[in-house]
Amino acid sequence: MKILFIGDIVGRPGRNILRDNLSILKKEYQFDTLIINGENAAHGKGITPKIYQEFIRLGIDVITLGNHAFAKQIILDELDCCDSLVRPRNMNPTNVGKYVKVIKTKEGTLAVHSILGEVFMNNVSESPFIAFEKSLQEVNADMHLVDFHAEATAEKQTFFYKFKDSCVAILGTHTHVTTADEMVVDGCAYISDVGMTGVTQSILGRDIEEVILNLEGEKTFYKVASGQAHLSAVLVTIVDKRATNIERIKIIQETY
Ligand SMILES: [Fe+2]
Ligand SMILES: [Fe+2]
Repeated sequence: MKILFIGDIVGRPGRNILRDNLSILKKEYQFDTLIINGENAAHGKGITPKIYQEFIRLGIDVITLGNHAFAKQIILDELDCCDSLVRPRNMNPTNVGKYVKVIKTKEGTLAVHSILGEVFMNNVSESPFIAFEKSLQEVNADMHLVDFHAEATAEKQTFFYKFKDSCVAILGTHTHVTTADEMVVDGCAYISDVGMTGVTQSILGRDIEEVILNLEGEKTFYKVASGQAHLSAVLVTIVDKRATNIERIKIIQETY
C-alpha cells in the first residue's frame, strides 16, 4: 500500500498546483491513500468549509491542520460538516473538531493523527509526548500515522524515536522547508519536514515585500506570494502494516 502525504498547501497557488498535478501524481505513484496538510489553504492561514469541500472532491482522504487550524472563524462554525479534517490534539481550544481520523485501507485501519510540537509554538495545551501517549491508548487501529506539526528538528527526532514502534509514519510539517533526512527505521517512515506546497520565492508562501514592510511597522494582511510554485510530498510504502520505504517528491510549476 502507498500513502501520499502532501505538505502545507499555502493559499491559491498551493491549491492550484495541487489540483493541476493530482492525476499526474496518481498515475506515476499509484498511491492508495492521500493525506494533505491544509492549515494554510485559505489565503495562507486556516481553511474554510468551501476549500475543505474542494479538497474532498479531489479525492483527498484526510486533511490535517496545524497551529493555524482555526484562523478562519467560519471553519469553527461548520466543523460538523468536515468529517475528514484533523486538528492538532494538543492545541487550544481543545474541545472542537477531531484530532484523529481512522480510515480503512487495504492493509487495515489507519489512524491519522495531528500533534503540535511545543518548542517555539503558541496555543499548545499539553506536551506532545503526553498527548500522543493518550491517543495511542484511546485509538484502536492497525496502523498510526502522525503529522507532527513542529518547529524544532530535535523535538521531531525525539518524537520519532519515542513512538516509531507504534507508528507506520511520523511526518514533520510546519517549517514549510523540506528536509533531506527521510528514512525508515524499524518499520516507521520519518522526515523532519515534508515542506510546503506554495510559491517558491516567498517567506513560507507569503509575499516577501509584505513581510519586509511588516518589519518596518506597516500594517499588513498576509498577502500570499505569486509566481513559480512547488508541491512537496512524500510517498510512504507499507507492507504487512509496516513502512518499507519513504520517497521525497517535488513538483515545480508556474502558477497563476
Ligand atoms: Fe504551515
Ligand atoms: Fe504551522
